[in-house]
Amino acid sequence: MNTDNKILQKKANVVEIGPRDGFQNVKEFIPTEVKKTVLQKLYDSGYKKIQITSFVSPKAIPQMKDATEIAEFALRNLSDIDIFALVPNYYGAKSAHEVGLKEITPVISLSESHNKANVRRSHQESLDEFKRIKDDFPEMKLTPDIATVFGCPFEGRLSIDLLLSMIDKLTSQIGVTEITLCDTIGVGYPEQVRQIIRNTKQAFPSIKFNLHVHDTRNMGVLNSYIGILEGVNSVQTSLGGLGGCPFAPGATGNTSSEDLIYMLQHDGWDTGISFDSLLATAKYLHGNVQGNYSGHHIHIKDEYCCL
Ligand code: COA
Ligand code: ZN
Repeated sequence: MNTDNKILQKKANVVEIGPRDGFQNVKEFIPTEVKKTVLQKLYDSGYKKIQITSFVSPKAIPQMKDATEIAEFALRNLSDIDIFALVPNYYGAKSAHEVGLKEITPVISLSESHNKANVRRSHQESLDEFKRIKDDFPEMKLTPDIATVFGCPFEGRLSIDLLLSMIDKLTSQIGVTEITLCDTIGVGYPEQVRQIIRNTKQAFPSIKFNLHVHDTRNMGVLNSYIGILEGVNSVQTSLGGLGGCPFAPGATGNTSSEDLIYMLQHDGWDTGISFDSLLATAKYLHGNVQGNYSGHHIHIKDEYCCL
């Protein structure tokens, strides 16, 4: 391929997941109106796809108790972009279906120990439940997350064979065509990201793979960028770098959306997202929500932010 063509094709697909992964780890309840304002501002910044909430037990994650109201708001006001929500079980899928969502993310962890800690199910139990969701709600698109792909707080690093076998089950038994590979606790490193993406794409050429990484060792932007260079379908990031799984000890925030968009915009990638607008959204969030921010906008003087 000639280099001119390559430059013309520098398009990166960045999906915002802060309203789910970011908010789920915030202790104090974020007023629903603040969540709606954040969604509206993200939409106004140019996002084409946003994970808006999760349909989980309010006992497990009280922060998400307003999932239905948030979904209704998003369906009304963000109707021309893709919106989706995470679900841990059939109950959550049914609620998402009832409110009218067209896409959900059932979550399963590559490590069985983490799957049990997170959703209290064995691998087989989760897969059986996904099958039931698929059979009962065939019009909803399922784009599962595989958590702990890059390392687990209980089992350490897991084998690529285990990952390929999980992908095989999700594609052949449930019929999914798009999967998100998640570094739930942020222990991935560039060569590992490269190898995992190459291996999965090679073994499943017709499946779309997304990348979702956390920023424990400040490698979030780098690892996300490796994913983009390796041709993932999309990378997922979180406004302000908020985030983390409450059921994964040591989990930290995601790659910060504004940090990644800053880099991509200056490096000439077309994302369709306005950095200035996103930065203003991150500042709104920072002014209204107490959380574990890792995005660097907080430490930078205003005059340097938008250069
Ligand atoms: N939405 C709302 N309520 C739910 C629910 C859902 N998706 N799933 C279960 N519940 C409720 C049940 O109605 C029940 O309520 P009750 O005690 O008032 O009767 C209670 O939660 C427990 O139900 P149970 O059948 O024991 O739960 P479960 O085994 O089906 O599932 C989980 C429990 C895993 C779904 C729950 O712990 C959960 O939602 N965890 C959140 C996981 C998560 O979001 N992790 C971070 C993102 S990866
Ligand atoms: Zn995450």
